[in-house]
Formats: sequence, C-alpha cells, structure tokens
Amino acid sequence: MTATMKLVSRVRRLGCVLAFCFLALFLWGLPVARALDNGLAMTPTMGWLHWERFMCNVNCQEEPDSCVSEKLFLQIAEIMASDGWKDVGYEYLCIDDCWMAPKRDSEGRLQADSKRFPGGIRRLANYVHSKGLKLGIYADVGNKTCAGFPGSFGYYDIDAETFADWGVDLLKFDGCYCDSIKHLADGYKHMSLALNRTGRSIVYSCEWPLYMWPIFKPNYTEIREYCNHWRNFADVYDSWQSIRSILDWTTSNQERIVPVAGPGGWNDPDMLVIGNFGLSRDQQITQMALWAIMAAPLLMSNDLRHISLEAKALLQDKDVIAINQDPLGKQGYRLRKEDNFEVWERPLSNLAWAVAMVNLQEIGGPRSYTISLTSLGQGLACNPDCLITQLLPVKRKLGFYEWTSSLKTQINPTGTVLLRLERAS
Ligand code: GLA
Repeated sequence: MTATMKLVSRVRRLGCVLAFCFLALFLWGLPVARALDNGLAMTPTMGWLHWERFMCNVNCQEEPDSCVSEKLFLQIAEIMASDGWKDVGYEYLCIDDCWMAPKRDSEGRLQADSKRFPGGIRRLANYVHSKGLKLGIYADVGNKTCAGFPGSFGYYDIDAETFADWGVDLLKFDGCYCDSIKHLADGYKHMSLALNRTGRSIVYSCEWPLYMWPIFKPNYTEIREYCNHWRNFADVYDSWQSIRSILDWTTSNQERIVPVAGPGGWNDPDMLVIGNFGLSRDQQITQMALWAIMAAPLLMSNDLRHISLEAKALLQDKDVIAINQDPLGKQGYRLRKEDNFEVWERPLSNLAWAVAMVNLQEIGGPRSYTISLTSLGQGLACNPDCLITQLLPVKRKLGFYEWTSSLKTQINPTGTVLLRLERAS
C-alpha cells in the first residue's frame, strides 16, 4: 500500500468512526419523552404469554394439555413460582387471544369461555396472586379480536372496569378489526384512560404502531404517553427467519424507535420463543442477548412444563436479565454491520456498557471478529481502561483491557457473543 492509499483509507476509517459516533450519540443522548403516568414498567415487563406456543387451540377434548384453558394457566403459574422463574423476575402470567366466550353477557360484559375457564378469570387471578405472580389478559380495540372473539369497540369503560374487578394486572390490547386510523388512535387512548380511572395498577401493552405503519408513521411521543409497551412489527414465529426479520426491522428504524424507549415505555419486539422447536442453541442465545440489548419486554412463549435445562438456564441467566432490566433504561442499537457481522451496544448504569456481536453468516463454521475498544460506547466504554466479562455463550471473565487494545472473539454462525464492559479505574 502506498503512503497516499494508507492516508486515504485512514481518513475513510476515521470518517466511518465519526459517522457511527454521531449515530450512537444521537440514539444515546436524547432525553426520553414523557411516559404513561401509571408508575408501571419502570423496567421492561417480564413474564409469560401463551400466544406463540399455544395459539388459539380451543380443542380441550382432544388436546387437554395444550388448549387455552384455566388448567394451562394454573399449571404454568405453579411452575413459574416453583421453578425459579419468578425469582429471576418473570412475574406476569399473560393470557392472549381465545379466552373469551363468543358473546358478552346480558350486561354487556366480556366473559371467559365457561367450558375452558370454569372458575372464571377472577378465581384464576386469585390463584396467580397467591403464587406471588400477576395476571395479564387480552382484548382488542376494534370490533373483534384477531381470532374473531368479541372486540372492545364501544365497550372500553366497561371492559376496563371488568378487568380491574377481576384483579387483572396487565392488558394486551390488540388492533384487529378497527375500521379507521382515527378509531384506532382514539380507542388506544380511551382504553389507557379507562384503565387509569379504575384505580388498579394495570400495565398497558399496545399494538397501536404496528397497525398504523402500513398507513401512517406512528407518533411515538404520543404512543409513549398512553402505553407501557408497544408492538411495532409482525408477530414472532418459532424460526430464525422471524428473529432476523425483527432485528432487521429494528435496525432499519432505530433512529425513530430507540430514543423513545425508557422507564415506563418500551418498544416490544414480541415474545421470546426460546425453549421451543425452531431455533438452534446459537439462535436462542442471539434472541436472548439481543432482547436484552433492545430493552425488550421478556415475555416467554414456551411450555415451561417441558423445557430443556439448557433453554431454562439461558432464560434464567441473571447477568443477561440484569442487562435487560438495567435501571438506566436506555435501549441499545446497532453500531455497525460489516462482513456479515453486526455489533450492537447498550449504555448501562454506572457507565457500564453491554456489547453484542452477531455472526449472521449461515454458511461455514465459527468466524473470528476483532473489535477495537476505542470504537465502543462513543469512545467512552473502555476509556481509559475496562474490565470485560463475556456473558454469552458462556460466562467468562476476560479481564482488564486498555482503551487502545482490541478484543478477538469467535462467533458461531447465527450466534452471538455478549459482553459486559465496566470501568476499571
Ligand atoms: C395478533 C397479535 C398476536 C396475537 C394474535 C392473537 O396477531 O399480534 O400477538 O395476540 O393477534 O389473535
């Protein structure tokens, strides 16, 4: 290489570093907009939600163990309390679509399907509370739920009161069958205020932006004032393609969505599907690491009655959960993509940083990636030095590093290395 070429490439590199720093500063430095004032979700909600794994299975005759029924929720509640899930933070046991009877009662109230939920929701809530857990439920802003059960349009106040009476602690409010963008926005706001008026603390989980995107760009400042978390993108499936598409959507929109996340209001990239059928070990590690970096609600959708020890250990990893639940409450972002590697970072409290490096290449074996520490955390993460701990795929203390040094890692195809960097001096 000639001296001029070297200079040009150095200037180019500096240009890139500056561009990334600018992006990082933009995503990191903005003050967060006002959040829904209900004092809830100061860190991302953690729990379990039935949809991805159990969907709308209402056939309890033939599939008594996997239909949407009281029995399923009683069993999951028992396991969440006894198998360490609650202890590491998974607190909300959430019912999704298909819990309702096909019609409201004579007074216009929603009612649970009496065959599948013979004790009703109030009794289920009592049991869930007796285990030290909280109960989530599902309804829809439009005329019907996505699976065709009664919608809440025209019944927002009644439904909010019913949920509060039953002792519900979280509402997932879907956006199917809403006939206009105005009804969608009005409905999401109306339900938020109605829940607050009940006087019960109810986390409000929205899908408002997801249903707006095809038509309008959502106003996230407004959404944050009404919702504790909000889905932006398509439903998660039990596949790597689905996880990738969620990550790709997130990076394409990070300038818009990262700055609005913070205590009280979070972007929701949908459920954790770890412990099911579709993701390899490395892909499960990637989902866990990136959901921690994204400050995402950690709502598992899996069968806790039958889950491998490996998946359980990953989901219960306290160090990774601590990154997700970090009290600073700033969502992480992708810092760079090169050669089919992605580097993500997230600022944490006490000037610490989380860094995730993903190997997106789906051919070949583990590839090595070297990262220069000056490039992390706007040049501050390891300045003048830092202690680095690798958290995933396995926990390993990597030791003391100086600002000008670099770190070499090996990353499996579709896998992730997750690090925590702490100031040393
Ligand atoms: C929509 C939601 C899903 C789930 C289903 C239920 O697709 O995005 O998360 O709640 O409806 O029907």
